[in-house]
Amino acid sequence: MQLPVISSFDRENVDSATFSSGLVDNFNRPITYLRLAVTDRCNLRCAYCMPENMRFLPTKELLTDDEIMRLVGVCAAQGIRKVRITGGEPFVRRGIMDLLWRIKETSGIEEVHITTNGVLTEPHIPELQKMGIASINLSMDTFDAERFRDLTRRDEFAAVHATFEALAASAIPLSVNAVIMENKNTDDVIAMSEQTQSKQFTMRFIEEMPFNGGTHEFPTLLWTHDKILTTLKTAFPTMMALGKADNTATADLYQIQGYEGKIGIIAGFSRTFCGACNRIRITAKGTLKTCLYDNGVLNFKTMMRSGASDEDLSEALIRSVTNRFRDGFEAERHTHATVGFDSMSEIGG
Ligand code: GTP
Ligand code: 5AD
Ligand code: SF4
Repeated sequence: MQLPVISSFDRENVDSATFSSGLVDNFNRPITYLRLAVTDRCNLRCAYCMPENMRFLPTKELLTDDEIMRLVGVCAAQGIRKVRITGGEPFVRRGIMDLLWRIKETSGIEEVHITTNGVLTEPHIPELQKMGIASINLSMDTFDAERFRDLTRRDEFAAVHATFEALAASAIPLSVNAVIMENKNTDDVIAMSEQTQSKQFTMRFIEEMPFNGGTHEFPTLLWTHDKILTTLKTAFPTMMALGKADNTATADLYQIQGYEGKIGIIAGFSRTFCGACNRIRITAKGTLKTCLYDNGVLNFKTMMRSGASDEDLSEALIRSVTNRFRDGFEAERHTHATVGFDSMSEIGG
């Protein structure tokens, strides 16, 4: 559902000139990470993300390659160093490989990561490796073919599993993302963790969030971080806590003794990691979000199509970053969340 955009500029203004270098927000958090949704389109229909009859944006509403490159350049000039390409499904965008090369070669951008559903990904792996993609997060909520079809409403398990096998065997660091839902895939928590015994990847379990485009009522019986952790500890008593990969990471990491891979839990709904949040988002239609749970603070596409200069874009970026919400709860209080949330496919997760 489309929500009205409210501006965080209405809130107490903080002068960005008080900060010395790079993008630093009004809570002194350095902002170095851009999550960029390159399309809202997807070749799966996961129920936690979108309704079966999802209506995607017309192409003219999406950012063009040149608009994306302009924004990446502006963000890099302001201190963004890491870009994660998301969607929808990035690989359904025409010309995605050329766009990835261009982003990878942007001055200032040190790391490009991708989050993908794996349906079209496998044939691109050698080129992605050559490009120097820093890591890939593969969305896969089960390793059971029939259950996969129920959860995604599409029969694409074979292609996704082939991507999983090829990535696990490649030099690109791999994480698998599974959103855990009551009565859907809770036993996959154990079955999928078992896969880390002999494969070097991180199996991550994610709390469901309400970004489903109005598909269903948000469940009251939520599989929280704590519930997932208890389930894991009971099944794998030798599992050790490893902490986070770095202080800005969303996932708490674990490892079962003697296993090759790792396990992660992401408290996306409980939002325990906001204090060190270093990320901003640009959605498929060019909206800047300074929090996953906000409504979008401005639209870069509208600005660019009405003649904004790079300086205008940079100023708008700095102003938004220096007027951020403290955390996802504060952002949510300002989103008219009772009306419903957009689909994750437009936001990019
Ligand atoms: P890296 O930190 O770059 O590894 O990215 P990630 O693991 O956070 O990204 P990914 O696209 O794999 O997302 C995994 C899950 O984390 C998805 O459910 C995202 O919606 C969620 N997520 C990512 N960033 C945030 C965030 O800033 N806040 C919240 N609440 N959830 C997030
Ligand atoms: N809650 C939690 N995670 C979600 N994702 C998509 N929709 C939701 C949701 N409602 C995940 C995808 C993907 C990542 C970008 O976000 O599974 O791995
Ligand atoms: Fe950042 Fe908002 Fe996510 Fe918290 S909920 S980590 S503030 S994007």
